[in-house]
Amino acid sequence: MSLEKIGIDKIGFYTPEFYLDLADLAQARAVDPNKFKIGIGQDEQAVLPLDQDVVTMAANASAPILAPKDRSEIDLIIFASESGIDQSKAGALYLQRLLGLNQSARAFEIKEACYGATAGLQMAYDHLAAHPDSQKVLVVAADVARYGLETAGEVTQGAGAVSMLVTRAPRILALSQPTAYFSEEIMDFWRPNYSDTAFAEGKYSTEQYLRFLEIVWHDYQQKTKTQLTDFAALLFHIPFTKLGLKGLCQMTADADQETKARFLQVFETATIYNRQVGNIYTGSLYLSLLSLLQKGDLSAGAKLGLFSYGSGAVGEFFAGELQSNFESMSQLADVETLLAQRQKLTVAEYERLFKQTLPIDGSTLTIDPISQHAQFRLTGISGHQRQYK
Ligand code: CAA
Repeated sequence: MSLEKIGIDKIGFYTPEFYLDLADLAQARAVDPNKFKIGIGQDEQAVLPLDQDVVTMAANASAPILAPKDRSEIDLIIFASESGIDQSKAGALYLQRLLGLNQSARAFEIKEACYGATAGLQMAYDHLAAHPDSQKVLVVAADVARYGLETAGEVTQGAGAVSMLVTRAPRILALSQPTAYFSEEIMDFWRPNYSDTAFAEGKYSTEQYLRFLEIVWHDYQQKTKTQLTDFAALLFHIPFTKLGLKGLCQMTADADQETKARFLQVFETATIYNRQVGNIYTGSLYLSLLSLLQKGDLSAGAKLGLFSYGSGAVGEFFAGELQSNFESMSQLADVETLLAQRQKLTVAEYERLFKQTLPIDGSTLTIDPISQHAQFRLTGISGHQRQYK
């Protein structure tokens, strides 16, 4: 085990410029708005326009946080996504070119539903611990959560990317070892190659999330002798905030009222952004971290517990300690501006954007700019190749 601190030094974020108000969706689907707001715990969801995909979102999340020195020192680029754009080639390579990253680097893509970014983060830790000459790793989580119009999962859609620069002497969160993980082959959520929307056994998936949480939390306590009250905050994968809340209630079931209230207050600040963006699959846990960093009132030295879950399924519980510059460093992600400049769609406009998909027959397409503020856009497809600007 490495004795030096390794962890998250910078975090970037991007979400598309369009969103749907879930009160409008509730009305269109003849559902009580409180089911979405309270029962599911979501207020809005990001809607992906045709000129954005996981590569452009990853680039838009990463560009603002990477200084020239970072770009030349990164020697491992990990792209985590459930919604990759190619069966073979890694999104990390497009990212390397678009951002001008170091070419003396390993670059690849990993997939395990919403767990991918956590696998990437732990791999980044191991890489830096094992290679004393290595300085920086870029881990990017980018996803589009699509269940389909008028499905049970529709209210839990969203889109976005979280970018994390992992370094020695990190300025946001130092990761702790050991961690606790568990995996088992189950069919709770999956997306066959022929489908651009996910299949989910909704209720079963929520039960599995909670079962995996119980297993890894128990294992983590055994391994580290940590107690609930050692943590200042508990963070969860947030496919929708209500499920994270159920996870929190499960973990704090035996705690006293004061402890429960403390964790609940922190949970609410840690899910402010998730309520507005929706599910971004593998980035959701890290969007919750960003929400806590920017909206919470924790102090340096605070210990965070994080639960990651990816259907299929893998669960992991791990911990980190807030570092002295976490407040200023977390401001690099200008989430408020991104959210403020979004355009609200009517349900009809959302349905039109949702149905606008890229050709799957190899035909050529030119996409006029839709995103007004994004640095990177998809401009079309030509010769079976996505064109980026
Ligand atoms: N006011 C307040 N609450 C209301 C209400 C009202 N008027 N009407 C209903 N509710 C409550 C219900 O009581 C229920 O609460 P509880 O969960 O506490 O019982 C809640 O709203 C949801 O209602 P339903 O039980 O009727 O659920 P649903 O049929 O609408 O489906 C869902 C909900 C299963 C989450 C569905 O949205 C879905 O399939 N989503 C996609 C799958 C998913 O996100 N799974 C998460 C685990 S998998 C994972 O984590 C990986 C990943 O990211 C995908």
